[in-house]
Amino acid sequence: MSQKVKDYSQYFIAPDLKAAKKRGKEEIQVLQFEQIPENMRQVGQGKKYLIQTYGCQMNVHDSETIAGILEQMGYTATEEEQEADIILLNTCAIRENAEDKVFGGLGRLKRLKLEKPDLILGVCGCMSQEESVVNRILQSYQHVDLIFGTHNIHRLPYLLQNALFSKEMVVEVWSKEGDVVENMPKVRTDGLRAWVNIMYGCDKFCTYCIVPYTRGKERSRRPEDVLNEIRDLARKGYQEVTLLGQNVNAYGKDFTDINYRFGDLMDDVRKIGIPRVRFTTSHPRDFDDHLIEVLAKRGNLVEHIHLPVQSGSSAVLKMMARKYTREQYLELARKIKQAIPDAVFTTDIIVGFPGETEEQFQETLSLVEEMQYDSAFTFIYSPREGTPAAKMKDDVPMEVKKERLQRLNDLQNEISRKKNEALRGQIVEVLVEGESKKNANVLSGRTRTNKLVNFTGPKHLIGKLVHVRIDEPQTWTLKGVWVDQEQLAQVGV
Ligand code: 5AD
Ligand code: SF4
Repeated sequence: MSQKVKDYSQYFIAPDLKAAKKRGKEEIQVLQFEQIPENMRQVGQGKKYLIQTYGCQMNVHDSETIAGILEQMGYTATEEEQEADIILLNTCAIRENAEDKVFGGLGRLKRLKLEKPDLILGVCGCMSQEESVVNRILQSYQHVDLIFGTHNIHRLPYLLQNALFSKEMVVEVWSKEGDVVENMPKVRTDGLRAWVNIMYGCDKFCTYCIVPYTRGKERSRRPEDVLNEIRDLARKGYQEVTLLGQNVNAYGKDFTDINYRFGDLMDDVRKIGIPRVRFTTSHPRDFDDHLIEVLAKRGNLVEHIHLPVQSGSSAVLKMMARKYTREQYLELARKIKQAIPDAVFTTDIIVGFPGETEEQFQETLSLVEEMQYDSAFTFIYSPREGTPAAKMKDDVPMEVKKERLQRLNDLQNEISRKKNEALRGQIVEVLVEGESKKNANVLSGRTRTNKLVNFTGPKHLIGKLVHVRIDEPQTWTLKGVWVDQEQLAQVGV
C-alpha cells in the first residue's frame, strides 16, 4: 500500500498480501473479548443493523458474531435496507463472481447513502483482506464508511466509534497470522442447528486459493473451549452442531503442550448429548486413521463426509499443490467406506484449472464415476490475484471450461438422481427445520446425510427428529410422508 494512500486518514490500516502470506513459529495467542467500552454500550439504542452475508459457513458464523457485538451496543436487526442505520457486507473472495456481487451491492447502496447520509455502510470479510479490493473501494466507492478485516471483528466497537464520530473512511485490516479470540458474543438465529468454530485459518496454500491469505494461519481453539460451547448448546436444546474450520482435519496440529487432534475432539464431542454432529470442511491430506475409527463409532457423528477432491488428475492435483494423488484420494475413500459402509460422500471440484487438458478433465469424470458422490459443488477455476495459479499460463478457452462444467454437472446430476432413487420407499430420520420455503403446507428438514426432505406432516413436528418415508426422490431433494410412532412400530423400525 503506498504512502499516499496511508495518509488518507488517521484511521487507516490497509491489507498487505505479502504480510498475510507469512507463517512464523510464534505461539498462538488466545485472547478474551473485551467488554464493549462504556460510551458505546447505548450507541445503537433505537437503531437498526443489517448484515448481508456472502460465501461460506465461516462467514455465516462470523456474521452471527458481528450481530452479537452490535446487539451488545443496543442495535436491533432488520431485513430492510431502507430502515437500517448500519449495513455491513460480509464478503467472500473465493471467486470473481462472488466479488462482483459485492461491488454490485455497493453500487446499488450508493443511492441509499445519499438519501441517508448518517447511514454507516461497511465492508468486512474476506474481500477486505485484499489490497486490490480496498484500493478499488477507496477510488470508486467513497460512500463506504468502514472496512475491517477477518482478524479485526473483535475491534468492531472501536471501529464503529471512529466511523460514527469521524467523517473519514475508517479502514482497519490486519494482515497478521491471527489469534484466537474467545467469548465473543453471538446471535444464533436458528435455535436448532449451530455452527461452532474449532479452528481458524489455513496453511495449505493450494495454488488457486485465496483463503490462506484472507484468514491467516491454522490455529485451533482449545478443546475445553470448544467442548464447553457444545455442551452449552446441548443444554439450550440445539439438535445439531457443525464444527467449522477451513481444514478441520488439521485441528490440534498447532498445540505445543498437548497431543490432541481432530479424532480426539470428535471422540469427546460424541459423548455430548447433542443428536447430530457434522464437520466442514476437510482436506484429504490430514484425514487420519484415528479419525476414521472415531467416525465409525457413529452415534451422533453423522455418516456424511464432505471430502473436496478438486480434480481427478494427479498432474493437475500437483499443480494445485493439493499434496495427494488421485490414487491416494481413492485409497482414503476406500478406507472410510470400509469403516462406514453407508457413508455418503460429497465433494468440491474445479474445472478448467490453467492448462487442464481434455484427458485430465476426463480423469475427473472417471473419478466422479468411481466415487459415486451423492452431490458435488462444481466450479470453473477463477484466477485470484496474488495466488501462484494466477501467474500460470492458461490456454484453456472459457468456452471449453464452460462446456466441461456442463459435462461434469450432467454426469453428477445423473449420479445424484440414481443415489436418491435408491432411497425410494425407505424410512429416514429427518430433523424438521420448518415449513418449506415454497409451500407452507409442507414441512422441510434434513437427513443425517444432509439431504433436503420435503414432507407432509403436522406443524408440531417442527424442531423435532422424526421419521419420513421417501416416496418421491428427485435429483436435489426428496419428497415423503411422515411416519408416526405407531406406524414405525408396525414396520419394526
Ligand atoms: N476458483 C474456483 N474455485 C475455487 N475454489 C477455491 N478457490 C477457487 C478458485 N480460485 C473452490 C474449491 C473449494 C471451494 C470452497 O471453492 O473447490 O473447495
Ligand atoms: Fe469465501 Fe473462503 Fe472467505 Fe469463506 S473463507 S468467505 S469461501 S473466501
